Amino acid sequence: MSESPNETGKNSRTALAYSNLNPRDPSNFTNPLKVPRPLEGLFGIIESPSNASIKVKALSLEVVPSTKTDSWVYEVNYSGRSIINPIFKMKREESFSATLTNEIPQETIIHWHGLIVDWKNDGQASYAISQNENYDYGFTVYNRGGTYWYHPHPHLHTAEQIYKGLASFFIVEDRDEENLGKSLDLELGKTDIPLLIQDKLFNEEGRLEYDPNEMERIMGFYGDLILVNLTPNPSLEVDTRIYRFRVLNGSSARIYRLAFTKGNESLPFHIIGVDAGLLERPFKVNEVFVAPAERVDLLLDVRHLSRGDVMFLKSLQFDAMERDEELMEGMMEGMVFRSKLQQAVDFNILKLLIRNKINYDAQIPETLSMVQPIDTSRAIERKVALSGSMNMKGGLMVQWMINGEMFDMNRYSFQVDRNVVEIWNVTNPDQSMPHPVHIHGYHFQVIERLNSPAQVSRLAVDASGRLPTDLGWKDTLLIWPGEKIRIAVDFANRFAGEQTYPFHCHNLEHEDAGMMINYKVA
Ligand code: C2O
Ligand code: CU
Ligand code: CU
Repeated sequence: MSESPNETGKNSRTALAYSNLNPRDPSNFTNPLKVPRPLEGLFGIIESPSNASIKVKALSLEVVPSTKTDSWVYEVNYSGRSIINPIFKMKREESFSATLTNEIPQETIIHWHGLIVDWKNDGQASYAISQNENYDYGFTVYNRGGTYWYHPHPHLHTAEQIYKGLASFFIVEDRDEENLGKSLDLELGKTDIPLLIQDKLFNEEGRLEYDPNEMERIMGFYGDLILVNLTPNPSLEVDTRIYRFRVLNGSSARIYRLAFTKGNESLPFHIIGVDAGLLERPFKVNEVFVAPAERVDLLLDVRHLSRGDVMFLKSLQFDAMERDEELMEGMMEGMVFRSKLQQAVDFNILKLLIRNKINYDAQIPETLSMVQPIDTSRAIERKVALSGSMNMKGGLMVQWMINGEMFDMNRYSFQVDRNVVEIWNVTNPDQSMPHPVHIHGYHFQVIERLNSPAQVSRLAVDASGRLPTDLGWKDTLLIWPGEKIRIAVDFANRFAGEQTYPFHCHNLEHEDAGMMINYKVA
């Protein structure tokens, strides 16, 4: 993002005092969380729209209180109202149709992250549209119930466009979801709350800065304000009952190690769902990692607490595992992250305050859904090796790659048979960093997670080294340095003709720098 000094009167803006916004200080959490409501304002929920007209446009939003931030948003005019970054809620098997109109001075296209659609509806870089152009979408929602999302996917500008505000949820309902909602008396926007977590860097005038330096392009761009649904330092009043939080990590690069705390006490919670819907059963845990683009669905029971009690959803400290010595040297030479909040320190995300003691006696069901294991008895094995190649000649340079390749939108790296199950052996070398890799077009199952670092392996729940979040249908996989993870993908294809989809790192700086390949299903 380039500075345009004449455009804003610098003196008319209040300088941001970071001490008032620092998420490490719990007393800063005074801004009411923007909770998605039906057909209202920011993240308004639109149920089963047909022919939605979605505009991508510039809009000035009040993100930091009493400061205007130039943003890019999705706008849908629905029932006479303007809804910004709408949450689409659809039933399984319903059909969705929309027209995208681009009103920003950059190419864009919407990608429906996690939705099973043919490649023309997938929102790929090769279908990006210029300013004032339109793109029509129409597809059946084949997905399981769950928490999906949508965001831009143009060549080279995905990170910047998401950063400037373009991202929201696509929620799918099915029978299992309905049953869960009934047994826990959950209501979307009241007790079932989507939380889009992002870190952003604002300059002193409250303007969003997206201009990664070399270091930030290699490691990822980090912000020092943590926003939930575009609210910094948010606070939410809750009653003594069970809440469902649909967490989506919409950050460029930041990994969160989520936990709920009350004072120094850690509050256990249940993981009930991941990227593509519910797990078979709830897992009681004290923490969960969530990488860029991953979703985790959590239940928090606060029945035993009292009026006035305060809790926090936090990110705990961990080892960022950025093992590159050359990079560390580079940092010492002045190449630094500008974020005041380092990668893996602990900080608060959302304050929860108990408002009322109520009667509530629901129990979390023991069975949530069925996760039918993919039959891998005749699977073909394929290597998917992540790597980074170093080039110190012209200054600091690391190119992240998949199977030694960089993205070229006009070619595909390999072809898979539409009748075949494949096992992908995904590896990440020791001297690397964590990469959240993502597949379009299909979901996968984690078969085993090997050679995990201690901070990960101690969370494993079975002999295959899998975490609770590995036990559902996934579209994004966080692979730590040194790990070898086997995943199963059933390439059965419901669409006519050949389909080409990308597989890429969802660290958005890595994606834009070409850590992406195409594969073809034929
Ligand atoms: Cu969420 Cu190809 O992306
Ligand atoms: Cu995707
Ligand atoms: Cu990466």
